[in-house]
Amino acid sequence: MYRNTYALIDTKKIYENVKYVVNNYQYDYYIGVVKNNAYNHGINTINSMIKGGINYLAVSSLDEALQIRKAYSKIPVLVLEPIDLKYIDQCDYYNITVTVENLKYVKELVEIKLNKGINIHFKVDSGMNRLGFNNATELKQAYDLLNKNKKLNLEGIYSHFATSGLNDEYYKNQIETFKKTTSTIDLAKIPMIHLDRSITLINNEKIPFCNACRFGMLMYGVSGKKPVLGRKQKLKDSVKKILGKEIKYPAVLPLNPAFELYTEVMSVRKVKSGEYIGYATYKAETDIYIATLPIGYADGVDLSFKYVFINGNYCEILADTMDMIIVKVSPKVKIGDKVEIIGKNIPLLKVCENTRLNSYHLFNKITNRVARKYK
Ligand SMILES: Cc1ncc(COP(=O)(O)O)c(C=O)c1O
Repeated sequence: MYRNTYALIDTKKIYENVKYVVNNYQYDYYIGVVKNNAYNHGINTINSMIKGGINYLAVSSLDEALQIRKAYSKIPVLVLEPIDLKYIDQCDYYNITVTVENLKYVKELVEIKLNKGINIHFKVDSGMNRLGFNNATELKQAYDLLNKNKKLNLEGIYSHFATSGLNDEYYKNQIETFKKTTSTIDLAKIPMIHLDRSITLINNEKIPFCNACRFGMLMYGVSGKKPVLGRKQKLKDSVKKILGKEIKYPAVLPLNPAFELYTEVMSVRKVKSGEYIGYATYKAETDIYIATLPIGYADGVDLSFKYVFINGNYCEILADTMDMIIVKVSPKVKIGDKVEIIGKNIPLLKVCENTRLNSYHLFNKITNRVARKYK
Protein backbone atom coordinates (compact mmCIF):
# COMPACT_ATOMS: atom_id res chain seq x y z
CA MET A 1 0.00 0.00 0.00
CA TYR A 2 1.77 3.12 -1.22
CA ARG A 3 -1.10 5.61 -0.96
CA ASN A 4 -2.13 6.44 2.56
CA THR A 5 -5.85 6.09 1.87
CA TYR A 6 -7.43 3.11 3.58
CA ALA A 7 -10.50 1.56 5.14
CA LEU A 8 -9.79 0.41 8.67
CA ILE A 9 -11.80 -2.69 9.49
CA ASP A 10 -12.22 -3.59 13.15
CA THR A 11 -12.50 -7.38 13.14
CA LYS A 12 -13.18 -7.44 16.90
CA LYS A 13 -16.34 -5.46 16.28
CA ILE A 14 -17.41 -7.97 13.63
CA TYR A 15 -16.79 -10.77 16.12
CA GLU A 16 -18.80 -8.97 18.81
CA ASN A 17 -21.67 -8.14 16.44
CA VAL A 18 -21.97 -11.77 15.35
CA LYS A 19 -21.72 -12.99 18.94
CA TYR A 20 -24.52 -10.64 19.96
CA VAL A 21 -26.84 -12.03 17.30
CA VAL A 22 -25.89 -15.64 18.04
CA ASN A 23 -26.47 -15.15 21.78
CA ASN A 24 -29.80 -13.44 21.36
CA TYR A 25 -31.49 -15.26 18.49
CA GLN A 26 -31.69 -19.03 18.71
CA TYR A 27 -30.99 -20.96 15.51
CA ASP A 28 -29.00 -24.04 14.51
CA TYR A 29 -27.40 -22.32 11.53
CA TYR A 30 -26.16 -18.75 11.27
CA ILE A 31 -25.44 -17.96 7.64
CA GLY A 32 -23.07 -15.01 7.25
CA VAL A 33 -23.74 -13.12 4.04
CA VAL A 34 -20.33 -12.17 2.63
CA LYS A 35 -21.09 -11.27 -0.95
CA ASN A 36 -19.05 -8.58 -2.69
CA ASN A 37 -15.96 -9.16 -0.59
CA ALA A 38 -17.97 -9.23 2.65
CA TYR A 39 -19.89 -6.05 1.82
CA ASN A 40 -16.47 -4.60 0.94
CA HIS A 41 -15.01 -5.28 4.40
CA GLY A 42 -12.76 -7.95 2.88
CA ILE A 43 -13.00 -11.72 3.23
CA ASN A 44 -10.22 -11.59 5.86
CA THR A 45 -13.03 -10.77 8.29
CA ILE A 46 -14.54 -14.23 7.91
CA ASN A 47 -12.33 -15.68 10.66
CA SER A 48 -13.89 -13.28 13.17
CA MET A 49 -17.36 -14.20 11.93
CA ILE A 50 -16.64 -17.89 12.42
CA LYS A 51 -15.26 -17.23 15.90
CA GLY A 52 -18.45 -15.34 16.71
CA GLY A 53 -20.65 -18.27 15.67
CA ILE A 54 -21.21 -18.10 11.91
CA ASN A 55 -21.32 -21.70 10.68
CA TYR A 56 -22.34 -21.21 7.03
CA LEU A 57 -21.56 -18.52 4.45
CA ALA A 58 -23.55 -17.12 1.53
CA VAL A 59 -22.27 -15.30 -1.55
CA SER A 60 -23.80 -14.26 -4.84
CA SER A 61 -21.65 -16.05 -7.42
CA LEU A 62 -19.41 -19.05 -7.97
CA ASP A 63 -16.45 -16.69 -8.43
CA GLU A 64 -17.01 -15.31 -4.94
CA ALA A 65 -17.50 -18.79 -3.51
CA LEU A 66 -14.24 -20.09 -4.99
CA GLN A 67 -12.33 -17.08 -3.72
CA ILE A 68 -13.58 -17.86 -0.22
CA ARG A 69 -12.89 -21.58 -0.60
CA LYS A 70 -9.22 -20.82 -1.30
CA ALA A 71 -8.89 -19.12 2.07
CA TYR A 72 -11.40 -21.15 4.12
CA SER A 73 -11.38 -24.83 3.25
CA LYS A 74 -14.06 -26.16 5.60
CA ILE A 75 -17.01 -23.83 6.13
CA PRO A 76 -19.98 -24.55 3.82
CA VAL A 77 -20.63 -21.83 1.24
CA LEU A 78 -24.01 -21.28 -0.42
CA VAL A 79 -24.23 -19.42 -3.73
CA LEU A 80 -27.46 -17.43 -3.65
CA GLU A 81 -27.88 -17.25 -7.43
CA PRO A 82 -28.13 -20.11 -9.92
CA ILE A 83 -24.79 -21.37 -11.27
CA ASP A 84 -24.40 -22.20 -14.95
CA LEU A 85 -24.49 -25.99 -15.19
CA LYS A 86 -21.31 -25.80 -17.29
CA TYR A 87 -19.45 -25.12 -14.04
CA ILE A 88 -21.21 -27.54 -11.74
CA ASP A 89 -18.09 -29.74 -11.56
CA GLN A 90 -16.44 -26.88 -9.64
CA CYS A 91 -19.20 -27.05 -7.02
CA ASP A 92 -18.75 -30.82 -6.82
CA TYR A 93 -14.99 -30.54 -6.36
CA TYR A 94 -14.90 -27.54 -4.02
CA ASN A 95 -17.97 -28.37 -1.96
CA ILE A 96 -20.03 -25.34 -2.94
CA THR A 97 -23.75 -25.39 -2.13
CA VAL A 98 -25.96 -24.67 -5.12
CA THR A 99 -29.23 -22.73 -5.25
CA VAL A 100 -31.94 -24.35 -7.35
CA GLU A 101 -34.80 -22.07 -8.26
CA ASN A 102 -36.73 -23.84 -11.00
CA LEU A 103 -37.70 -27.27 -12.31
CA LYS A 104 -35.92 -26.99 -15.66
CA TYR A 105 -32.59 -26.60 -13.87
CA VAL A 106 -33.19 -29.74 -11.78
CA LYS A 107 -34.11 -31.76 -14.86
CA GLU A 108 -30.76 -30.85 -16.44
CA LEU A 109 -28.80 -31.18 -13.19
CA VAL A 110 -29.88 -34.78 -12.54
CA GLU A 111 -28.44 -35.78 -15.94
CA ILE A 112 -24.93 -34.63 -15.00
CA LYS A 113 -22.49 -37.20 -13.66
CA LEU A 114 -21.08 -36.03 -10.36
CA ASN A 115 -18.18 -37.25 -8.32
CA LYS A 116 -18.51 -36.42 -4.60
CA GLY A 117 -22.01 -34.99 -4.82
CA ILE A 118 -23.52 -31.59 -4.18
CA ASN A 119 -25.60 -29.94 -1.49
CA ILE A 120 -28.64 -28.12 -2.82
CA HIS A 121 -30.82 -25.39 -1.36
CA PHE A 122 -34.17 -24.72 -3.01
CA LYS A 123 -35.13 -21.10 -3.32
CA VAL A 124 -38.81 -20.16 -3.10
CA ASP A 125 -40.21 -16.90 -4.47
CA SER A 126 -42.33 -15.57 -1.64
CA GLY A 127 -43.03 -12.19 -3.18
CA MET A 128 -39.98 -10.52 -4.67
CA ASN A 129 -40.57 -11.91 -8.15
CA ARG A 130 -36.82 -12.13 -8.60
CA LEU A 131 -35.76 -15.77 -8.19
CA GLY A 132 -37.34 -18.95 -6.87
CA PHE A 133 -40.03 -21.58 -7.27
CA ASN A 134 -43.49 -20.07 -7.38
CA ASN A 135 -45.45 -23.20 -8.11
CA ALA A 136 -46.11 -25.99 -5.57
CA THR A 137 -46.47 -28.71 -8.20
CA GLU A 138 -43.18 -27.86 -9.88
CA LEU A 139 -41.45 -27.70 -6.52
CA LYS A 140 -42.72 -31.18 -5.70
CA GLN A 141 -41.52 -32.52 -9.07
CA ALA A 142 -38.08 -31.00 -8.48
CA TYR A 143 -38.06 -32.46 -4.95
CA ASP A 144 -38.88 -35.96 -6.23
CA LEU A 145 -36.26 -35.78 -8.96
CA LEU A 146 -33.56 -34.75 -6.48
CA ASN A 147 -34.54 -37.44 -4.02
CA LYS A 148 -33.97 -40.09 -6.66
CA ASN A 149 -30.40 -38.92 -7.21
CA LYS A 150 -27.94 -40.06 -4.54
CA LYS A 151 -25.35 -37.44 -5.48
CA LEU A 152 -27.73 -34.54 -4.93
CA ASN A 153 -28.57 -33.73 -1.33
CA LEU A 154 -31.41 -31.33 -0.62
CA GLU A 155 -29.84 -29.72 2.43
CA GLY A 156 -31.89 -26.55 2.59
CA ILE A 157 -34.79 -24.44 1.44
CA TYR A 158 -35.06 -20.68 1.68
CA SER A 159 -36.67 -17.47 0.57
CA HIS A 160 -35.82 -13.78 0.65
CA PHE A 161 -38.25 -11.25 2.09
CA ALA A 162 -39.20 -8.21 0.03
CA THR A 163 -40.19 -6.18 3.10
CA SER A 164 -39.16 -5.72 6.72
CA GLY A 165 -42.41 -6.70 8.39
CA LEU A 166 -42.22 -3.59 10.53
CA ASN A 167 -45.49 -2.04 9.49
CA ASP A 168 -46.49 -4.00 6.42
CA GLU A 169 -48.99 -6.75 5.91
CA TYR A 170 -47.00 -8.03 2.93
CA TYR A 171 -44.48 -9.66 5.29
CA LYS A 172 -47.14 -12.10 6.56
CA ASN A 173 -48.36 -12.74 3.01
CA GLN A 174 -44.85 -13.80 2.07
CA ILE A 175 -44.69 -16.38 4.86
CA GLU A 176 -48.07 -17.69 3.72
CA THR A 177 -46.85 -17.84 0.10
CA PHE A 178 -43.79 -19.79 1.24
CA LYS A 179 -45.99 -22.25 3.16
CA LYS A 180 -48.33 -22.67 0.19
CA THR A 181 -45.54 -23.21 -2.33
CA THR A 182 -43.89 -25.80 -0.07
CA SER A 183 -47.16 -27.47 0.96
CA THR A 184 -46.51 -30.36 -1.45
CA ILE A 185 -43.32 -31.45 0.35
CA ASP A 186 -42.42 -32.35 3.92
CA LEU A 187 -40.42 -29.39 5.24
CA ALA A 188 -39.47 -31.33 8.37
CA LYS A 189 -37.30 -33.57 6.23
CA ILE A 190 -35.13 -30.69 5.04
CA PRO A 191 -32.22 -29.97 7.41
CA MET A 192 -32.05 -26.18 6.93
CA ILE A 193 -34.90 -23.71 6.46
CA HIS A 194 -33.99 -20.02 6.25
CA LEU A 195 -36.14 -17.01 5.44
CA ASP A 196 -34.86 -14.18 7.58
CA ARG A 197 -32.36 -11.48 6.73
CA SER A 198 -31.03 -8.85 9.15
CA ILE A 199 -34.02 -6.50 9.35
CA THR A 200 -36.70 -9.20 9.41
CA LEU A 201 -34.76 -11.25 11.97
CA ILE A 202 -34.65 -8.52 14.61
CA ASN A 203 -38.05 -6.96 14.04
CA ASN A 204 -40.40 -9.94 13.99
CA GLU A 205 -41.28 -13.01 16.02
CA LYS A 206 -39.19 -16.06 15.17
CA ILE A 207 -40.74 -18.04 12.30
CA PRO A 208 -41.49 -21.37 14.00
CA PHE A 209 -40.42 -23.66 11.16
CA CYS A 210 -37.06 -21.92 10.50
CA ASN A 211 -33.86 -23.22 12.07
CA ALA A 212 -31.46 -21.01 10.13
CA CYS A 213 -31.13 -17.32 9.33
CA ARG A 214 -29.01 -15.31 6.91
CA PHE A 215 -27.57 -11.98 7.89
CA GLY A 216 -25.04 -9.54 6.54
CA MET A 217 -25.67 -6.02 7.76
CA LEU A 218 -25.90 -7.01 11.43
CA MET A 219 -22.41 -8.55 11.26
CA TYR A 220 -21.03 -5.32 9.87
CA GLY A 221 -22.65 -3.44 12.74
CA VAL A 222 -25.78 -1.79 11.38
CA SER A 223 -29.18 -2.68 12.82
CA GLY A 224 -31.58 0.21 12.81
CA LYS A 225 -31.72 3.82 13.77
CA LYS A 226 -34.05 5.38 16.30
CA PRO A 227 -36.32 7.58 14.22
CA VAL A 228 -36.39 11.28 14.92
CA LEU A 229 -40.09 11.99 14.71
CA GLY A 230 -41.27 15.20 13.14
CA ARG A 231 -44.69 16.69 13.90
CA LYS A 232 -46.21 15.18 10.78
CA GLN A 233 -45.11 11.65 11.70
CA LYS A 234 -46.28 12.06 15.31
CA LEU A 235 -49.68 13.08 13.99
CA LYS A 236 -49.82 10.10 11.61
CA ASP A 237 -48.85 7.80 14.49
CA SER A 238 -51.57 9.12 16.78
CA VAL A 239 -54.16 8.57 14.02
CA LYS A 240 -52.94 4.99 13.62
CA LYS A 241 -53.14 4.45 17.38
CA ILE A 242 -56.69 5.75 17.44
CA LEU A 243 -57.52 3.33 14.61
CA GLY A 244 -56.10 0.55 16.80
CA LYS A 245 -53.04 -0.13 14.66
CA GLU A 246 -49.78 -0.68 16.50
CA ILE A 247 -46.81 1.28 15.15
CA LYS A 248 -43.53 -0.56 15.20
CA TYR A 249 -40.18 1.23 15.09
CA PRO A 250 -37.04 -0.64 14.06
CA ALA A 251 -35.13 -2.46 16.77
CA VAL A 252 -31.82 -0.79 17.55
CA LEU A 253 -29.30 -3.41 18.70
CA PRO A 254 -26.06 -2.62 20.54
CA LEU A 255 -23.92 -3.30 17.47
CA ASN A 256 -21.00 -1.27 16.19
CA PRO A 257 -19.98 -0.56 12.59
CA ALA A 258 -16.62 -2.09 11.83
CA PHE A 259 -15.82 0.13 8.84
CA GLU A 260 -13.82 3.36 9.06
CA LEU A 261 -12.26 5.34 6.24
CA TYR A 262 -9.13 7.52 6.36
CA THR A 263 -6.75 9.40 4.13
CA GLU A 264 -4.16 12.15 4.64
CA VAL A 265 -3.47 15.67 3.49
CA MET A 266 -1.46 15.57 0.27
CA SER A 267 -1.15 19.27 -0.54
CA VAL A 268 -2.18 22.61 1.01
CA ARG A 269 -2.48 26.09 -0.45
CA LYS A 270 -4.04 29.47 0.05
CA VAL A 271 -6.62 30.54 -2.50
CA LYS A 272 -7.57 34.15 -3.02
CA SER A 273 -11.12 35.46 -3.15
CA GLY A 274 -12.54 35.00 -6.64
CA GLU A 275 -10.27 32.11 -7.61
CA TYR A 276 -11.72 28.82 -8.78
CA ILE A 277 -11.16 25.42 -7.20
CA GLY A 278 -11.16 22.06 -9.01
CA TYR A 279 -12.70 22.08 -12.47
CA ALA A 280 -13.91 25.58 -11.78
CA THR A 281 -16.91 24.14 -9.97
CA TYR A 282 -16.30 26.21 -6.84
CA LYS A 283 -15.40 29.87 -6.55
CA ALA A 284 -13.81 31.19 -3.35
CA GLU A 285 -15.82 34.07 -1.90
CA THR A 286 -12.97 35.08 0.44
CA ASP A 287 -9.30 34.14 0.88
CA ILE A 288 -9.27 30.56 2.16
CA TYR A 289 -6.90 27.68 2.86
CA ILE A 290 -7.59 24.41 1.11
CA ALA A 291 -6.15 20.89 1.25
CA THR A 292 -6.06 18.27 -1.48
CA LEU A 293 -6.69 14.68 -0.35
CA PRO A 294 -5.77 11.49 -2.25
CA ILE A 295 -9.27 10.04 -2.47
CA GLY A 296 -11.89 10.75 -5.11
CA TYR A 297 -15.02 9.44 -6.73
CA ALA A 298 -13.06 6.56 -8.25
CA ASP A 299 -12.72 5.43 -4.62
CA GLY A 300 -16.38 6.15 -3.93
CA VAL A 301 -15.93 9.49 -2.13
CA ASP A 302 -17.47 12.59 -3.63
CA LEU A 303 -19.13 15.90 -2.77
CA SER A 304 -22.14 14.11 -1.29
CA PHE A 305 -20.01 13.20 1.76
CA LYS A 306 -20.19 16.96 2.57
CA TYR A 307 -17.22 17.14 5.02
CA VAL A 308 -14.21 15.35 6.47
CA PHE A 309 -12.56 15.64 9.90
CA ILE A 310 -8.99 16.99 10.26
CA ASN A 311 -7.20 17.87 13.53
CA GLY A 312 -10.43 18.31 15.51
CA ASN A 313 -12.32 20.28 12.83
CA TYR A 314 -14.99 19.44 10.30
CA CYS A 315 -13.79 20.55 6.86
CA GLU A 316 -16.21 21.14 4.02
CA ILE A 317 -15.59 19.29 0.75
CA LEU A 318 -15.43 21.98 -1.93
CA ALA A 319 -14.68 19.92 -5.05
CA ASP A 320 -14.44 16.29 -6.10
CA THR A 321 -12.43 14.81 -8.92
CA MET A 322 -11.76 11.22 -9.93
CA ASP A 323 -8.80 10.67 -7.62
CA MET A 324 -8.72 13.68 -5.31
CA ILE A 325 -11.06 15.86 -3.30
CA ILE A 326 -10.40 19.40 -2.15
CA VAL A 327 -11.50 20.56 1.29
CA LYS A 328 -11.54 23.86 3.13
CA VAL A 329 -9.12 23.81 6.08
CA SER A 330 -7.64 25.99 8.81
CA PRO A 331 -4.25 27.59 8.11
CA LYS A 332 -2.65 25.17 10.59
CA VAL A 333 -3.36 22.05 8.52
CA LYS A 334 -0.22 20.61 6.93
CA ILE A 335 0.82 17.88 4.51
CA GLY A 336 0.58 14.43 6.13
CA ASP A 337 -2.19 15.30 8.62
CA LYS A 338 -4.64 12.43 9.16
CA VAL A 339 -8.11 12.82 7.62
CA GLU A 340 -11.18 10.96 8.86
CA ILE A 341 -13.96 10.34 6.34
CA ILE A 342 -15.90 7.67 8.25
CA GLY A 343 -15.04 7.08 11.90
CA LYS A 344 -15.62 8.23 15.46
CA ASN A 345 -16.30 11.84 14.53
CA ILE A 346 -18.28 11.10 11.37
CA PRO A 347 -20.15 7.87 12.16
CA LEU A 348 -21.25 5.60 9.34
CA LEU A 349 -24.93 6.45 9.79
CA LYS A 350 -24.13 10.16 9.62
CA VAL A 351 -22.40 9.54 6.28
CA CYS A 352 -25.50 7.66 5.13
CA GLU A 353 -27.59 10.67 6.09
CA ASN A 354 -25.24 13.11 4.31
CA THR A 355 -24.94 11.05 1.14
CA ARG A 356 -28.61 9.96 1.24
CA LEU A 357 -27.44 6.40 0.76
CA ASN A 358 -28.47 3.45 2.87
CA SER A 359 -25.66 1.42 4.45
CA TYR A 360 -25.84 -1.23 1.68
CA HIS A 361 -25.20 1.33 -1.04
CA LEU A 362 -22.56 3.10 1.03
CA PHE A 363 -20.49 -0.04 1.72
CA ASN A 364 -20.63 -1.01 -1.92
CA LYS A 365 -19.74 2.49 -3.06
CA ILE A 366 -16.25 2.40 -1.51
CA THR A 367 -14.32 0.67 -4.26
CA ASN A 368 -11.65 -2.00 -4.07
CA ARG A 369 -8.99 0.56 -4.97
CA VAL A 370 -9.12 1.66 -1.35
CA ALA A 371 -6.70 -0.50 0.63
CA ARG A 372 -8.12 -2.39 3.61
CA LYS A 373 -6.25 -2.44 6.94
CA TYR A 374 -7.38 -4.74 9.71
CA LYS A 375 -7.46 -3.94 13.40
C1 LIG B 1 -30.69 -13.57 -0.68
C2 LIG B 1 -30.10 -12.71 0.39
N1 LIG B 1 -30.11 -13.16 1.65
C3 LIG B 1 -29.60 -12.41 2.65
C4 LIG B 1 -29.07 -11.17 2.43
C5 LIG B 1 -28.53 -10.40 3.59
O1 LIG B 1 -29.18 -9.21 3.83
P1 LIG B 1 -28.86 -8.37 5.14
O2 LIG B 1 -27.51 -7.78 4.95
O3 LIG B 1 -29.91 -7.35 5.17
O4 LIG B 1 -28.90 -9.27 6.29
C6 LIG B 1 -29.06 -10.67 1.14
C7 LIG B 1 -28.50 -9.33 0.90
O5 LIG B 1 -28.61 -8.67 -0.06
C8 LIG B 1 -29.59 -11.45 0.08
O6 LIG B 1 -29.62 -11.01 -1.18
